Amino acid sequence: MPASLPGQSAIVTGAALGLGNAFARALAGEGANVTICDVREEVHDLVPALEAAGVEAQAFTADVGLAADVRRVVDGHVERFGGVDVLVSNAGVWRASAATDDLDKTLDDYEFLINTNLKGVYLFGRAVIPHMIAGGGGNIVHIASDHIATCGTPYQRGCDDAPTCTWREQGPRPTGGGPDMDLYDASKWGINGFTIPWSKALREHNVRVNGLCMGATDSHMVRTFHEQNPGSGILDNAMRAEDVAALMIDLIAEGPEGRTGNNVNIAVGHPIELPPPGSPYIYSEAPA
Ligand SMILES: NC(=O)c1ccc[n+]([C@@H]2O[C@H](COP(=O)([O-])OP(=O)(O)OC[C@H]3O[C@@H](n4cnc5c(N)ncnc54)[C@H](O)[C@@H]3O)[C@@H](O)[C@H]2O)c1
Repeated sequence: MPASLPGQSAIVTGAALGLGNAFARALAGEGANVTICDVREEVHDLVPALEAAGVEAQAFTADVGLAADVRRVVDGHVERFGGVDVLVSNAGVWRASAATDDLDKTLDDYEFLINTNLKGVYLFGRAVIPHMIAGGGGNIVHIASDHIATCGTPYQRGCDDAPTCTWREQGPRPTGGGPDMDLYDASKWGINGFTIPWSKALREHNVRVNGLCMGATDSHMVRTFHEQNPGSGILDNAMRAEDVAALMIDLIAEGPEGRTGNNVNIAVGHPIELPPPGSPYIYSEAPA
């Protein structure tokens, strides 16, 4: 099958490990020139693998929560590739935090989680949007989480999966996350405050803005969670980062007429494929 993004250029944040690494490889495999960044120095080790796909690639050590770092990455990308076609705002961190935590602990957790997971999305978006508009369009993909999604099936809406859905005896599938994830979840819910307004504001400029809301996917982050919560079973059915990356390519490859302002929910145990545009994304939990 011919590459779907030949000659395009993409930025992937948080690409040293995990999903970001897989997203960068998938974009290079589709013919896009790629800039990657990460707080980890080993992000530079990925460059030869990307170049082996026949594209140009470069890496920056950078913190997505620092405006000067973000400008350096985006300016470096535009200088080398002339514009920005794709931004994958992937860099993210996880740490347990709960409503009952001491305030001082919470302040540190807040800076850690919000500065990467939410401020990084905001800074990178603001930095690339003028370039995408100048270039006639683009794709912004926010890496959110299934913690902000509930398909609601089969209780709240009709669903083809109803006969086999593991939640059918329990009412609508609740959102993920939990009581020890308040700041992580706040950072991911907050991303919607960019995904949806940006999709509206940028539609006329052919810039599509969507979120990926995956369930557990094998990565450094999930393995860290598993070490701290050995009984959670999170690795038992975890998805492969390569499969999620292939779905992200399908999302981008929809082209200028594709969906925008959508959160694509990829649930563990379900086919890893694009649902129809605008399909289940329900904010509410089950009624009591
Ligand atoms: N793995 C999952 O199950 C899962 C599920 C839903 C959402 N997500 C989200 O997917 C994204 C990737 O997660 P992952 O599982 O691959 O995690 P990971 O820990 O394996 O990789 C995250 C990468 O981001 C980098 N990073 C962290 N803080 C950074 C910063 N301030 N600036 C630049 N780079 C930074 C890390 O160094 C690392 O290379 C995150 O946003 C995460 O919240 C993951």
